[in-house]
Amino acid sequence: GLPSFVKIVEVGPRDGLQNEKNIVPTETKIEFVNKLSESGLSVIEVTSFVSPKWVPQMADHSEVLAGIKRYPHVKYTALTPNLKGFQGAFKAGADEVAIFGAASESFSKKNINCSIEESLKRFEEVMAAAKIANIPVRGYVSCVLGCPYEGDVSAEKVAEVAKAMHDMGCYEISLGDTIGVGTPGAMCHLISTVSKQVPLEKLAVHCHDTYGQALANIFAALQLGVTVVDSSTAGLGGCPYAKGASGNVSTEDVVYMLHGLAIKTGVNIQKLIEAGHFISSALGRQNHSKVAIATKSS
Ligand code: HMG
Ligand code: MG
Repeated sequence: GLPSFVKIVEVGPRDGLQNEKNIVPTETKIEFVNKLSESGLSVIEVTSFVSPKWVPQMADHSEVLAGIKRYPHVKYTALTPNLKGFQGAFKAGADEVAIFGAASESFSKKNINCSIEESLKRFEEVMAAAKIANIPVRGYVSCVLGCPYEGDVSAEKVAEVAKAMHDMGCYEISLGDTIGVGTPGAMCHLISTVSKQVPLEKLAVHCHDTYGQALANIFAALQLGVTVVDSSTAGLGGCPYAKGASGNVSTEDVVYMLHGLAIKTGVNIQKLIEAGHFISSALGRQNHSKVAIATKSS
């Protein structure tokens, strides 16, 4: 059966904005995060502490974290690929951090410049520092349903990397369909394979909507008992190291589907839609949430 509550992890300010070519003013990022906080979301991935040479858009990570209004019901999180990133995020006051690896060697190399095995060693260093600082760590596995460089990725390989991250202490493992190629049958096979290694209640799904499959894939995962969904308001997003990866599934559309299924999220969809219109017009982009487009008053 379906869950009665789903936790949404809003990744728009990070996964959404990281792919924007023009540098978005820090003030705009801050206002976007504040509007998201007001919608009732409980987790917002604000930024990433990666190399500014690799992803210039995230170079103002500390300023964004310092500038946002902190609501007590919201956890403000950041991506941290290595110890240097963790130290920056901790100093800037991130409530939680996330390490991010991949189930594909080529993607790991292109995205974080090391092999999967090397990445796990770097993550161990982050885990050790985070434990001392008492900061919870989330783990991402990318390319879980396909890789832009290698094509098919086996569910067993995903399960192996997910298990390694769980064993080192990640409280949640987010399975990323980085390029949005998966279909619901593949998602079902993935969830049943990975949940033999990592408890189902610790799994999240992170779907990009490149091929228009995201909502169907999320629904498939929910039916198998997944209760955490990553999404991006206004459907912003993409990955700079995965060509053709379009936006994440939009949070508005996910929330609309969940509420239609009588699944609670704690999110006020109207406020979320306003946050999506705000960032879309600030970027001069079409809003990619179908719900936001359908409900827009002219
Ligand atoms: P590297 O060049 O191999 O790093 O990059 P290095 O350790 O050899 O250091 C080289 C230079 O980078 C040094 O500076 C370091 O200090 C600096 P220099 O001496 O040359 O002046 N450096 C850093 N600076 C700032 N912050 C840091 C940091 N670490 C080293 N944390 C590195 C390795 C991981 C840093 C690089 O590859 C990188 O930044 N990659 C980030 C890529 C990225 O952000 N990708 C997008 C996010 S992942 C994603 O979108 C997928 C996801 O959404 C899930 C899904 O959809 O599947 C999560
Ligand atoms: Mg992503």
